[in-house]
Amino acid sequence: MSSRPDSTMSQVTRRALSAKAEQFTESVIREMTRLALKHNAVNLSQGFPDFAAPAEVKEAARQAIADDINQYAITWGAKPLRDAIVEKFERTQGIRVDPEREITVCCGSTEAMMSSMMAIINPGDEIVVFEPFYENYGPDAILSGATPRFVKLRPPDWSYDEKELEAAFGPHTKAIILNTPNNPTGKVFTRAELEFIRGLCVRWNAFCITDEIYEHILYDGAEHISMARIDGMRDRTIVINGMSKTYSVTGWRVGWAIAPPEATESIRKVHDFLTVGAAAPLQQAGAIALHSPQSYYDKLAKDYAARRERLLKILTGAGFTVFLPRGAYYIMTDISRFNFPAEQFPAGTRDVSFAKFLVEQVGVAVVPGSSFYNEARDGASQVRFTFCKKESTLAAAEERLSHLAEHIARR
Ligand SMILES: Cc1ncc(COP(=O)(O)O)c(C=O)c1O
Repeated sequence: MSSRPDSTMSQVTRRALSAKAEQFTESVIREMTRLALKHNAVNLSQGFPDFAAPAEVKEAARQAIADDINQYAITWGAKPLRDAIVEKFERTQGIRVDPEREITVCCGSTEAMMSSMMAIINPGDEIVVFEPFYENYGPDAILSGATPRFVKLRPPDWSYDEKELEAAFGPHTKAIILNTPNNPTGKVFTRAELEFIRGLCVRWNAFCITDEIYEHILYDGAEHISMARIDGMRDRTIVINGMSKTYSVTGWRVGWAIAPPEATESIRKVHDFLTVGAAAPLQQAGAIALHSPQSYYDKLAKDYAARRERLLKILTGAGFTVFLPRGAYYIMTDISRFNFPAEQFPAGTRDVSFAKFLVEQVGVAVVPGSSFYNEARDGASQVRFTFCKKESTLAAAEERLSHLAEHIARR
């Protein structure tokens, strides 16, 4: 075989690649975890708990494998898990859905979101996305072919401007993507905010895809209201949820979409050909997990409230401006106060340089704010920390961050 010059090879390769995939980069969040490992840093970047999952849930998974639940589950989800989802959604949100026609179990809520978007989007469709947003929604939009229209949530309370939101909707709007409780801001949308969004969805005949994966992680009396519960939204809402955060099993990859029957039919087809199904024994364990008593969820929220206090204290002590989260397990911070020399941290990319400096020099991994925005400069003065970590991890971060000022002065 004759060899080709490199330039020709790269042209051929480039021509063969997907134009869609070229529009986004690898996940910055997951890249930060790799950097944390490389630099032996305390990892407060990616949102996975570093403490044990509940013993009963792990035992249920072991038992399911021992019982030989080791073959494909029904494509749209094992019956015991779908029944448990129905029971829990009714118990917590007061809405009864049909396990046969309104639920699709997927490989994590990540796949549930992707399958849902692919199931409803046509060329020319637009989606409204609040920003800062969970970074997956950007690539999800590109892969499904939707054009995103971004609407800002502004600190300190991350409220939106009603006029701005109204202007983002139009005849091409297929859906709004909502995430409450919110990553990265910790915002919990109020009933009044959800009702305003309802008005726009009804007016423009749009879906609401609502990612409610942090539904049980709430502080200061905040209440999680599912968009499906808002009058007039039941038949235009797709609820995305999963086991990852509620049961501290992010590696199990079990999530689901709850959607009206016609949308579910479409979601199930996409899901079937994307992944066939989530791990069967873990779905079985999911059925057990979802029947956990209320005391489990109360303790989960209480433990996270203590971790939130702990990290807030560490961060304010180290000089960060913090935005108090009302839900989920992240703290968005503003780093402008550190006043870096402009030549070392040029405006527009300061968050990325700062995150690199933190992981390499200080030994703490965080996520640069720009990965949550469409325009990098909008997040250039922010970085996100997570506190889904055990006390020893937070204590190690505290020790390292206590030297932050010295590290900055030494630069
Ligand atoms: C808002 C949000 N949605 C979805 C996910 C991913 O969930 P899953 O593990 O179920 O795919 C995350 C993970 O950080 C998240 O923050």
